[in-house]
Amino acid sequence: MHKITIVGAGRVGESTAQIVAKEELCRELLLLDVEPGVPQGVALDIQQSASLLRFDTRVRGDTDPASMRGSDLVIITAGFPRKPGMSRSDVLNVNLEIIDGIVDNVLRYAEDAMIMMVTNPVDVLTWRVYRRTGWPRRRVFGQSGALDTARMTAFIAMETGYSVKDISSLVLGGHGDAMVPLPRFTDISGINIEHFLGRKKIEEIAARTRQGGGEILALKQHSSAYDSPAAAIAAMVDAIGHDRRRILPCVAILDGEYDQRDIAMGVPAVLDENGLVEIVELKLDAGERDMFEQSANMVRRDIDNLT
Ligand code: 2OP
Repeated sequence: MHKITIVGAGRVGESTAQIVAKEELCRELLLLDVEPGVPQGVALDIQQSASLLRFDTRVRGDTDPASMRGSDLVIITAGFPRKPGMSRSDVLNVNLEIIDGIVDNVLRYAEDAMIMMVTNPVDVLTWRVYRRTGWPRRRVFGQSGALDTARMTAFIAMETGYSVKDISSLVLGGHGDAMVPLPRFTDISGINIEHFLGRKKIEEIAARTRQGGGEILALKQHSSAYDSPAAAIAAMVDAIGHDRRRILPCVAILDGEYDQRDIAMGVPAVLDENGLVEIVELKLDAGERDMFEQSANMVRRDIDNLT
């Protein structure tokens, strides 16, 4: 990719920019924020690390939405994070207005881009962006499953002591308390997780995964997670930028897949240079299907409340 814009120079935006710049996932990286000086300062800070971290990515910051012209990908991280005790849905109304304004600017200045939504509640807001842009669904998607799956993988590595590199997990559904960790699709070097851990321990890991973001927020009190979210965003950017055809769980617009339509939520999807080009439909068993439906119902409740 030549140019990536990250909207929102807060913690997630900044951490994402550091990885994207260091990994040279694009030539030109723009940080856009409404707070004068902040995106410029963040960009300059990252740019000054270039010789140490050995990257040629050009990083700059701006408050003028017109500066996103020519972007191949716009990553939206702007908005208010939840506070301890809040659910992600609690920030829907305040973030909706912000996201609508950003999307209108993308339509004005970067009409050929793809949009990756990150701001919470990410499923509902991805749906909103899809409707507001009218773009094909391959160009509008969100990040959540890559993060939720990475959390589950981390917990399994911490519990078993085995290399995280050999662990592959899968979490579907909405990015909320009803997300759906899938032990049946989780393995260590191809060996199902049940070979290594008892059912009770697996359930504990699934529960901890569902609360993965909340646990960090409760510990830090004044900030949500941002290092692992940024790494998850970067994994998706890398898959797109290098045309890898990676299968990652992403927030995707569903049109009949998993018996759902008119909704965005987390499912395994193929990412290549054209964006989210395919949805992988798994044969869920009855219990998994029930959990997926419950998760969809929670996302749909928020979508129905959109004005
Ligand atoms: C998380 O799960 C903030 O939703 C984000 O950490």
